[in-house]
Amino acid sequence: MVGTKISPSILSADFAQLGREVEAIETAGCDWVHVDVMDGHYVPNITIGPDVCAAIRPHIKTVMDVHLMIEPVDLYLEAFAKAGADNISVHPEAGPHLDRTLQVIRDLDCKAGVALNPSTPASVLEHVMDRLDLVIVMSVNPGFGGQSFLPSQIEKIRQLKAMIGDRDILIEVDGGINPDTAGLVTAAGADVLVAGSAVYGPGAQDVSFYEKNIRAIRQAGDAGRS
Ligand code: DX5
Ligand code: ZN
Repeated sequence: MVGTKISPSILSADFAQLGREVEAIETAGCDWVHVDVMDGHYVPNITIGPDVCAAIRPHIKTVMDVHLMIEPVDLYLEAFAKAGADNISVHPEAGPHLDRTLQVIRDLDCKAGVALNPSTPASVLEHVMDRLDLVIVMSVNPGFGGQSFLPSQIEKIRQLKAMIGDRDILIEVDGGINPDTAGLVTAAGADVLVAGSAVYGPGAQDVSFYEKNIRAIRQAGDAGRS
């Protein structure tokens, strides 16, 4: 069995030293690096743009997992691909033609993902399954780190797992993930866990602290899968 993948969100990192912060989580054993892009319009917060992604790219050896919370999204796909994104995930509400958006992402040689808000049903993906590499189930309303996990999303993970069947599509869960909630979502079918505040702090802010946090989430995730 493949182990639970951990994608720490740099939203909770020290923005004054992002290069060092992504290197630290990779040294600490993460699988992917999750980058939360927010525009102050689709979500009520503003974070990172393509120039910052390009600046941290040389510090990332694993996977740059870019989560776009911006509307309109289509205009910016190329910029994030050029900035070195490996995965690009979009929200279905952020553009009028999800099928086309997913085709563009793959044409840019990136893995294509869709992120579902807590109120967005899994059924929006029914007719685009073959264009997907990744589904992000938001287990908080997007916009901020440090919010509480919404148990209502566990059933959606189960539904998606059944919809995916034997397709090569990963389920990533984002929001409120910590050692207490990790097993709940992996038991329902999650493959990749995003964690911001549960990896980056508060605490010592060094590699051994991040390593301890990543290990605890992964162990809880693996226990849920077994
Ligand atoms: C929320 C972001 C998440 C967030 C997770 O809009 O998409 O990635 O940073 O943070 P925690 O793990 O603190 O809930
Ligand atoms: Zn995210």
